[in-house]
Amino acid sequence: MPIYHTLGRVPQKRHTAMRKPDGGIYSEQLVGHEGFTGTSALLYHLHPPTTVKSVRKLRDLKWEAEEDQTLKHRHWRSSQLKKGGSPTLDRTPMLFNADIGMLYVEPDEQDAHFYRNAQADEVVYVAKGQGTLETQFGDLPYRAGDYVVIHRGIMHRWKLDLAHEQKFLVMESRGHVRWPKRYRNEFGQLLEGAPYSERDIRRPTDLRTHDEMGDFPILIKQFDALNEYVLDHHPFDVVGWDGYFYPWIFNIHDFEPIVGRVHQPPPVHQTFQGDGFVICSFCPRPYDFDANAIPAPYNHSNVDSDEVIFYASEEFMSRKGIEFGSVTHHPDGIPHGPHPGRYEASIGQKFTNELAVMMDSFRPLKVAKAVRSAEDETYHRSWIEAQHARVAAPQNGTPAPAVALPLTD
Ligand SMILES: [Fe+2]
Repeated sequence: MPIYHTLGRVPQKRHTAMRKPDGGIYSEQLVGHEGFTGTSALLYHLHPPTTVKSVRKLRDLKWEAEEDQTLKHRHWRSSQLKKGGSPTLDRTPMLFNADIGMLYVEPDEQDAHFYRNAQADEVVYVAKGQGTLETQFGDLPYRAGDYVVIHRGIMHRWKLDLAHEQKFLVMESRGHVRWPKRYRNEFGQLLEGAPYSERDIRRPTDLRTHDEMGDFPILIKQFDALNEYVLDHHPFDVVGWDGYFYPWIFNIHDFEPIVGRVHQPPPVHQTFQGDGFVICSFCPRPYDFDANAIPAPYNHSNVDSDEVIFYASEEFMSRKGIEFGSVTHHPDGIPHGPHPGRYEASIGQKFTNELAVMMDSFRPLKVAKAVRSAEDETYHRSWIEAQHARVAAPQNGTPAPAVALPLTD
């Protein structure tokens, strides 16, 4: 995160003694990515962060791909996936490759443990819910529409507000998640033309310092397995920190859509850059404003890119085919586009209320076995069925409704 941030007390010079009231020295720790060359932060602890009482491997977390690799467009309804459980341990894998994994969870239990993903950055899109992400860097209150970005290695604990239903789309990235380079100037600042600014980035607020001794389990994901470390003190014992490496939040409703006289391609919706993938936000916006513009996207083959869309708008609940929480997967190389009838129906439309998160991976994605039960088996035929319905409809000048209506690219 290329914005400097600090909370609590830090010494004037780094790597110098910061004294406790009893004369002892606070324990300094550097946390960051890419060793000592990526972004990092310096934390000051009451206790050394190294006093581990025990270590054990709990279980493997390997995602299993389905055996049938038939190439086709897919659609799953996340509403039909397993519900409940822990926000960190009960995630259902949906799609994955070596660069990115997409998972889904509707948690309803508080984690007693602290959690660290040591093999991936996490971007958690909060489709529904609210609460607080507790971290060593301070609290981060979250709400619906938030992308909660937790870089690898950042210890945290989800504090769910259980008065609210929680639905999380989780993206695990092997590479560092960042702002697209083209949105920044040579100094790192977001450009005037970027679809969001530094003011839209929410950073940790209240730093809570816990001075407690005991057994504190930390679950660490590494090597596609879960390990348990038991620390002899509460890990959130930080009295101050500063730097560029910390968890942060960007809300999808703070994305400023870029529109044009004619249809703009999906990259204008890009929100995040990863290694081997991008994340885009389709937000409510005016449509293309040329009188003859076709707001519906043109057919495309997305060669060298698998497209995954999570439909996050309640609006789609009333539409046949796609619903809130639907996930579609349009694999690399086979064309997709609007359903027959949507071209004509879109002309002259002024505005869309759509809300969707798109993840495009550059390498092909495998489908996880775990989503089989939530699949709409008819989706890959929905274009031809829409075409047949259209031909059969009475020609009264009004295009027949399509099987699925979203216009998202
Ligand atoms: Fe597309």
